[in-house]
Amino acid sequence: MLVVEKNALSEEIEGYVNKYGKDRSSLMPVLQAIQRKHSYINDFAQQEVARLLDIHPVEVFSVISFYSFLHSKPTGRNIVRLCRTISCDMANKSKIVQAIERELGIKFGETTKDNRITLEFTNCIGMCDQGPAMIVNDRVYTKLDPEKAVNILNEIK
Ligand code: FES
Repeated sequence: MLVVEKNALSEEIEGYVNKYGKDRSSLMPVLQAIQRKHSYINDFAQQEVARLLDIHPVEVFSVISFYSFLHSKPTGRNIVRLCRTISCDMANKSKIVQAIERELGIKFGETTKDNRITLEFTNCIGMCDQGPAMIVNDRVYTKLDPEKAVNILNEIK
């Protein structure tokens, strides 16, 4: 990353910290603001957030890792999040995983080469009685079977 880019990013983050406040409770809104603008929060941004909020970088990273809606790496144009929590797991989530990974040729946690789709797991999305469930960008799909899941993926541009 160029020095100019680093300075610009530093200034931008400083702006968020000024807006949301300089304490720990600002961590989430600051991270969300960075994510909104850049679609992920790189290492340098994480360090800047830690420095400006006076918290340990590990804490910043662990918050990003915990919330599936925050990313530390670039993602594809579309994000597919499959629920991995117990009800969906018991409703044959693993068959959906196999079908999707086979169709796209990537594993969960990866992005297709053409940048079209990133696959992620998510925790319960509140559709436990209709599992397996997944979210594609902002849209929820329920009662998936392998064929239905693959058809949904093939409709994503
Ligand atoms: S367990 Fe999957 S939606 Fe709740």
